[in-house]
Amino acid sequence: MPSPLNIREDRLLAELAHLATISAHPAPAVTRVLFSPEDLAARAWLVSLASHAGLATRFDAVGNLFITLEGSDPSLPPVATGSHTDAIPNAGAYDGTVGVLGGLEALRSIREAGLTPRRSIELIMFTAEEPTRFGLGCLGSRMLAGALSPEKARALRDPDGRSLEDLRPADCPGDLEEVRLAEGCYHAFVELHIEQGPQLDTAGLDIGLVTHIAAPAAFRLYFTGTGGHAGAVLMKDRHDAFLAAAETALAVERAAIESPSPDTVGTTGVIRISPSAINSIPCEAMMEIDFRDTDLAARDQALARIREDAAAACARRGVSLDWSCINSDPPAVCAKDLLDIAARHADSLGCSRIPMISRAYHDSLFMARLCPTAMLFIPCLNGWSHRPDEYSRPEAITRGTAVLARTLFDLSA
Ligand code: GLV
Ligand code: MN
Ligand code: MN
Repeated sequence: MPSPLNIREDRLLAELAHLATISAHPAPAVTRVLFSPEDLAARAWLVSLASHAGLATRFDAVGNLFITLEGSDPSLPPVATGSHTDAIPNAGAYDGTVGVLGGLEALRSIREAGLTPRRSIELIMFTAEEPTRFGLGCLGSRMLAGALSPEKARALRDPDGRSLEDLRPADCPGDLEEVRLAEGCYHAFVELHIEQGPQLDTAGLDIGLVTHIAAPAAFRLYFTGTGGHAGAVLMKDRHDAFLAAAETALAVERAAIESPSPDTVGTTGVIRISPSAINSIPCEAMMEIDFRDTDLAARDQALARIREDAAAACARRGVSLDWSCINSDPPAVCAKDLLDIAARHADSLGCSRIPMISRAYHDSLFMARLCPTAMLFIPCLNGWSHRPDEYSRPEAITRGTAVLARTLFDLSA
């Protein structure tokens, strides 16, 4: 490393704190749903920060924002970093934002040290890593990698029936067909993120070097039974859609617990019942299941078991089931040579480190389809995330950003 890269902790923390105020819910909660007024304000603010730092900006047609530190050789594929600034309802201030503002600070640290990288370095703020608006996570990176076709993206609707093209702002021009990038378009991609689990915090460690990202899958299930009067219809005559759904939710839990893979996790996070009246038998139920594993075969075996149990519960109860897949993504493996470079910089900065698995999904899951990819985790208090008391200590953020900056600069040489 030719010159020390100075991470300005005061600036980075002030920016994280400011971004947290751009929220649809009052502090400490942070809510920034894709293309909401808060998301648009955060995007505009990020563009102004980048412009102030002398960095070029552009949006693609799905709203991914690219912030570029120009390298001396524009013929070479750039190095990239990035994460997301959207936040699920009542989330915290650090999920995704540490990777975006830490990435910006990394680019500024290189520029302010008077260094010009050989390859350009691009910071990407990915559109909708969170599935809140359209029910599908990693929308921006999924489209960059060609894992979601423009037709399917066009067909997405939010709960109010609005499409991506209805909602995207005027500064996200062009056709969705132009979003996809070619494999090899980047030399490497490195994402900085809070761990969202307790391993680093519990062990008092600085950096997690992510070797694998778990394979996420999500499903939407519609159960249709027969409604009726809660007093008048005898139990033997019922076809209760909610109870078939409830049995399926328990089957999800059982399949995850009894899976031979220790990494299998299953969650029924959404359930809606119709007509949802205390004196009416549920005639319809909709539920959404999130199911993940690092071992794809184990995940798919457990899912097959859930489908059998759900079919059996529905047959017993005289309820019909329509099962649709929202997404079923394979796991990603991080590039060992990138992790080796990051490990070297962590060591030179005196940061303790361990190899880790990411059980949450991230935009890196899709960037890994385009170029060698790695992730750096930093600790967050008690592993809490997706809640307002999510917290990462200033020194943890600064250390992670310092390792990121050095790794990016090294890769850009
Ligand atoms: C990302 O937020 C996830 O659900 O893993
Ligand atoms: Mn998240
Ligand atoms: Mn995240």
